[in-house]
Amino acid sequence: MISLRERGKIISHRVGATKNCITYEVRFMKIPQADLRAQYETIKNDVTQVITEVIESTQFVRGQASKRFEERFAKYCEVDYAVGVANGTDALMLALRAVGIQPGDEVITVPFTFTATAEAIHWVGAKAVFVDINPQNYTMDVSKIEEKITDHTRAIMPVHLYGHPADMDPILEVAKKYDLKVIEDAAQAHGALYKGRKVGSFGHAAAFSFYPGKNLGAYGDAGGVVTKDIKIADTVRKLGDHGSVRKYENETMGFNSRLDGIQGAVLGVKLSHLDDWTKRRREITAYYNEALQDVAGIETPGESSWANCVYHLYVVQVDSRDQVKQRLNEAGIGAAIHYPKPLHLQKCYDFMKLGAGSFPVSERAGERVLSFPNYPEMTDEMLEYVVQQVKKCV
Ligand SMILES: Cc1ncc(COP(=O)(O)O)c(C=O)c1O
Repeated sequence: MISLRERGKIISHRVGATKNCITYEVRFMKIPQADLRAQYETIKNDVTQVITEVIESTQFVRGQASKRFEERFAKYCEVDYAVGVANGTDALMLALRAVGIQPGDEVITVPFTFTATAEAIHWVGAKAVFVDINPQNYTMDVSKIEEKITDHTRAIMPVHLYGHPADMDPILEVAKKYDLKVIEDAAQAHGALYKGRKVGSFGHAAAFSFYPGKNLGAYGDAGGVVTKDIKIADTVRKLGDHGSVRKYENETMGFNSRLDGIQGAVLGVKLSHLDDWTKRRREITAYYNEALQDVAGIETPGESSWANCVYHLYVVQVDSRDQVKQRLNEAGIGAAIHYPKPLHLQKCYDFMKLGAGSFPVSERAGERVLSFPNYPEMTDEMLEYVVQQVKKCV
């Protein structure tokens, strides 16, 4: 493996030497927000082998490699069924359709998320109804759900943002009281635990994204729906294959949304590493939290007592966020913003007529959040450099 120094990612200055040791002061290091190349280096032989097997088998769409991954992923999520689809957005849309959401229905969700959450609701013909997030962990403020329920409400879609589980018990309680479906948006939370149980196993269905940069990411677009309900699983599978269960027999109008064989094979290799990678993400988080806890102007992320967060992103809140980001970027650090504008303030949601001030917690988060690099292949040396630079910039 090529060292960081050889790749030109580190610029250092010799500051001292003894007989056995040369001391360098690191002046500049290039540390991206995520480094998929570094991850690939660790699994290269295995992925090359399984990709070759898929090519030789010619099972390019669905096929045995995808089926094996679906079975293992269902088990991993502590559910009975997983259905691979083309991407996480399709997983949300197909899950909504499979639980019976129809045009005109209302689905309660959050405005502080990636647009795909509400986009999926929109393209099913339903209306996204926003509830603000809580400031502790950026997930749905469960105390505000009930006030948004109307005669048209049919479902709640919590988002396990940044890998932190939403508070599922109160959500399930409200859902039960009003006979609503629950679809978890688990796109960022593979393997996260809520009260010791895997996310994805709480709702009627849950949607995962396997976008390359996700904690469990394919080598292209991919997604999956998990559920304990065979009817939901069968419906997702059928809808994703042009409404057919047998070739050229189309029972309903459907879509083309199936897991590619190569993606299923890659995901199978990566699933075996996921828990180790999560462990490293949590170590990195612990390191950052400790090193930054007393730095004025920075709020490190909280983890609720019932949560085991998988830290898809390590997100702090910081004063003068844009300047801090710029300075870190200049120092080679891929600090990024997830997400600068809550959905209700995005142009494409203008039709909702929800102006600034509608969701204060989301809006404040949008102005202050900053994500530091947090990926399993980061070395201790890289972490030290990030912390050193953050302390300089804040
Ligand atoms: C919270 C959330 N929901 C849904 C999606 C959609 O997933 P995909 O990009 O695979 O369509 C994403 C992807 O970034 C996401 O972060």
